[in-house]
Amino acid sequence: MSTKFLSIADMDQYRFCQLGINDLDEILAIEEAVYTHPWTRGNFLDSFYDHHDAWGIRDRQENLVAYFFLMPVVDEFHLLTFAVDAQKQKFGYAHIMLKKMLQIAQERNFLSIMLEVRVSNVRAIAIYRRFGFLEIGRRKAYYPAHEGQREDAIVMRIEAQ
Ligand SMILES: CC(C)(COP(=O)(O)OP(=O)(O)OC[C@H]1O[C@@H](n2cnc3c(N)ncnc32)[C@H](O)[C@@H]1OP(=O)(O)O)[C@@H](O)C(=O)NCCC(=O)NCCS
Repeated sequence: MSTKFLSIADMDQYRFCQLGINDLDEILAIEEAVYTHPWTRGNFLDSFYDHHDAWGIRDRQENLVAYFFLMPVVDEFHLLTFAVDAQKQKFGYAHIMLKKMLQIAQERNFLSIMLEVRVSNVRAIAIYRRFGFLEIGRRKAYYPAHEGQREDAIVMRIEAQ
């Protein structure tokens, strides 16, 4: 494993935190900077009201660096949104967050985590694959794209148990 990346053991560098409505401005600042079609404030509020599992990472300065939202569906988590601050990418935060997701699923006896990702999001797809997610299908025209077009989603899943 490279020493360049933060790891789950570097707990003096960051801390995990559960996120709530008070964190919404910070979440939106990241979301709107990294996504072409970001979730709206209303999307996040719906997710909080539905008691989805929302987790973040804060750095030593207490700035929000990354977050994910998981929706429980019977015995599977569905990863709804996942992002790392544009200025803090490529340090290993996504890797740490994926490990955290898997740990949450294992502790709660969920069997798997499922996600959709844009076919054009080649970096995220490669990260998920390397982490152990497998492609299980495609959804045609799932996402809005530029100029009124639509884009396919790749559906991926990782076993948690
Ligand atoms: C996709 C995204 C979450 C990746 O976040 P990130 O923090 O830059 O990713 P990491 O730093 O953890 O990973 C960087 C690389 O190191 C690898 N890596 C990270 N930690 C590692 C570790 N401890 N050991 C070995 N490899 C590691 C990753 O596999 C990855 O490889 P790459 O640079 O060749 O792609 C981020 O770019 C993002 O927020 N994008 C916009 C939103 C988005 O697309 N979200 C996903 C939607 S489905």
